[in-house]
Amino acid sequence: MSLSEKPKPALGIVGLGYVGLPVACSFAKAGYAVTGFDINRARLADLKSGKDKTGSVDNSDLESKTLSLTHDPSALKQCDIVIVAVPTPVDQAKRPDLSPFKGGCIRRWPELETGRDRCI
Ligand SMILES: NC(=O)c1ccc[n+]([C@@H]2O[C@H](COP(=O)([O-])OP(=O)(O)OC[C@H]3O[C@@H](n4cnc5c(N)ncnc54)[C@H](O)[C@@H]3O)[C@@H](O)[C@H]2O)c1
Repeated sequence: MSLSEKPKPALGIVGLGYVGLPVACSFAKAGYAVTGFDINRARLADLKSGKDKTGSVDNSDLESKTLSLTHDPSALKQCDIVIVAVPTPVDQAKRPDLSPFKGGCIRRWPELETGRDRCI
């Protein structure tokens, strides 16, 4: 089977901010089934109503049929690859604070822990 014939993996994007949302929309545009997950319900409500207040994507990109947006982490169970794009603010010594990633995502939602690829 050639690479182009292989089924596309299902993707999960955690954190739908300046980075995560364009990534989610780009993959959805390319025909991947994308599950976008965020803890911010107000942000999700805006996106679901077709509005990205940050202007990082065209509002029409939010209409993709292969893009699903959710507050439910269990939806990530169906994803083959999960991309995490949550904040990693730096401290005064310019060290990134990974606690939103480690504590907020990985430990809290074991759906992300096993059997999947993931990246920040
Ligand atoms: N914005 C940039 O220009 C830029 C450039 C290079 C790298 N980065 C890096 O990309 C990462 C994401 O940055 P950003 O600018 O998209 O941040 P952002 O603040 O715009 O978006 C982060 C999103 O993650 C959500 N979130 C926070 N904690 C969460 C959790 N535990 N589970 C699910 N969602 C959660 C927030 O609600 C928010 O919608 C950071 O590590 C940042 O350093 C950003």
